[in-house]
Amino acid sequence: MKPVKVGICGLGTVGGGTFNVLQRNAEEIARRAGRAIEVTHIATRHPNPSCNIGSHVQVTDDALALVNNPEIDVIVELIGGYGLALEIVMQAIANGKHVVTANKALIAVHGNEIFTAAREKGVIVAFEASVAGGIPIIKALREGLAANRIQWLAGIINGTGNFILTEMRDKGRAFPDVLAEAQALGYAEADPTFDVEGIDAAHKLTILASIAFGIPLQFDKAYTEGITKLTTADVNYAEAFGYRIKHLGIARRTEQGIELRVHPTLIPENRLLANVHGVMNAVMVNGDAVGSTLYYGAGAGSEPTASAVVADIIDVARAMSCDPDTRVPHLAFRADALSDLPV
Ligand code: HSE
Repeated sequence: MKPVKVGICGLGTVGGGTFNVLQRNAEEIARRAGRAIEVTHIATRHPNPSCNIGSHVQVTDDALALVNNPEIDVIVELIGGYGLALEIVMQAIANGKHVVTANKALIAVHGNEIFTAAREKGVIVAFEASVAGGIPIIKALREGLAANRIQWLAGIINGTGNFILTEMRDKGRAFPDVLAEAQALGYAEADPTFDVEGIDAAHKLTILASIAFGIPLQFDKAYTEGITKLTTADVNYAEAFGYRIKHLGIARRTEQGIELRVHPTLIPENRLLANVHGVMNAVMVNGDAVGSTLYYGAGAGSEPTASAVVADIIDVARAMSCDPDTRVPHLAFRADALSDLPV
């Protein structure tokens, strides 16, 4: 079977990790995907010293050139933001290419139009890496928990914020100092305000809720509060009373509709979510059949996030081998099939 040809747009923290995982595990990935996956093109404005790019890969600084290149089957959008990223994704769909993205801001804000366009063109838009880094929470909701009526979900879904709160508690470090380290480690968003003001968590919660409850993406309906008002004294007082402060995203079914909120929360120190430290994320999901379940792992960082991106590329490769009419549509979000349960 012909290899799947992949073009990666963006070779930063996640793009570099994606390239390296695809190279390192190429043999196993090909076995699992049923065909080889080849990165043939990369669009980047800056070289990534962690990547050893061979001469067989064409490198350009023009991402739209990849999108318009008929040789490429799958566009992997790892640029972030809404501007160029939206243009890349919409143009790729219009050109009949499948898309894999880690861009939660893009999916949360423009997902409804993206998925409508993808369905019309019969292409897949996969976005596992957009929420909780390496934790396969989207696949868990869509596949493993598909039998359930989801009652609620709650989780630590911003690694940078959890890293800051952990360091403040464990080492008494000051907020700006820890944020600078999170940026240096590649955890934080390009604009770290998104991390510390709860916007990134609200993007992710919007995506999780849309899948869990079958509602359209409604980012503007999420109550959003960050961690910038917290001080080391707050963290220490919570500790003295047997609690930990954790920044949670919570989506809950109520009689009025689905409630979406992100904010700092006091959690008794013996609870599972209170013991999620550093850049780790954890999401609890409660379904009527299964009860409570917990998903835990690295919520940010190069290869943890790449793990989710590559899993999506493998899914796309498998789906490409199926007749489009019989393809299980579990990757493309069915915006038109959603209920109007208000948020
Ligand atoms: N800035 C994000 C975080 C990256 O810290 O969780 C992963 O989405």
